[in-house]
Amino acid sequence: MRNAQITGIGHYLPERVITNFDLEKIMDTSNEWIVGRTGIRTRRWVQHGDTLSGLAYNAANKALAMAGKTAEDIQLILFASMASDHAFPGGGCFLQDKLQIPGVPAMDIRNACSGFLYGLSVADQFIKTGKYDTVLLVGAEIQSTSLDLTTRGRDVSVIFGDGAGAAVITATDNSDKGILTTHLHADGRYANKLWADAPSVNDHPPLTKELLDTDRIFPKMEGRFVFKHAVEKFPEVINEALQTTGLGIGDLDLIIPHQANLRITEAITHQLKIAGEKVFSNIERYGNTTAASIPIAISEAVDQGLIKKDSLVCLASFGSGFTWASAIIRW
Ligand code: COA
Repeated sequence: MRNAQITGIGHYLPERVITNFDLEKIMDTSNEWIVGRTGIRTRRWVQHGDTLSGLAYNAANKALAMAGKTAEDIQLILFASMASDHAFPGGGCFLQDKLQIPGVPAMDIRNACSGFLYGLSVADQFIKTGKYDTVLLVGAEIQSTSLDLTTRGRDVSVIFGDGAGAAVITATDNSDKGILTTHLHADGRYANKLWADAPSVNDHPPLTKELLDTDRIFPKMEGRFVFKHAVEKFPEVINEALQTTGLGIGDLDLIIPHQANLRITEAITHQLKIAGEKVFSNIERYGNTTAASIPIAISEAVDQGLIKKDSLVCLASFGSGFTWASAIIRW
């Protein structure tokens, strides 16, 4: 049977490093609070001149180089992001323009922290059915420019970072390799537990000068509610993937959870009764990069030799929507 396999992976982070001490200077927070509640010490935030499609382009080129492909080989672009360079069209088209491959379909996926895994599942289906042989999947986010950088928004602002990760996914005739299973879920009842209320097309007009003075334009999160659901859904969706494939937790070489918060990762590790070194974490350096976090983590795990030929890796996510998802891949 034909399978889909990640044959190239790459990541790119903006150069500007923001420490918790930098945040202490602009809002009422402390390094101690941030490290204790989230595990985050630094994150990358864009500076003037950086663009969303630019971050994505740099990550995509690294993934293409690893796969031994060029942009001309891409038959479908999947662009997972909460954002776009402009209000519309979606970011996939701006990335496609940078890659100089007019005519190739560019599809946007807006499922926040689960965006990369939603995209992985879409790529898997298109490849398994024989429609495409080579798909570029990118997770990219610029979140720093939309945050409330005052004390009012501190619970959210200290968590999020910018970055991009990309995967080149190609067809293989080896059914033991590649994406073995994917599982996607959503529960829109809780959409307003982690969201930005405005600007909204339901307002007439969506943008007013008064709106800009309110906090409705900033991301909001009911932190404890999100935490409670995350620590329940992560293990549930990982177990779903294990049951489908008939694998046990001990068969996995590595789990890469979406880098939401170190305390969430630690809770998953505890609940699944798996050794800490088998659960990847880089949130200390990059914060939560939403759709970019899983591909950045895969890319770093490959660079560090934690993922090698035939490694069995479980990917899992939870985030705004709520959405949650998992996949098991054999590298
Ligand atoms: N610095 C200092 N104090 C802060 C702060 C910050 N950055 N953010 C919030 N606080 C304060 C609150 O105002 C509150 O003060 P009060 O007791 O005087 O009212 C206190 O810290 C505790 O706030 P609370 O929201 O109860 O903290 P918490 O223990 O729930 O931790 C989170 C907050 C956000 C770290 C935690 O809820 C969490 O990890 N949630 C999940 C977040 C997540 O992973 N989201 C991404 C999902 S993809």
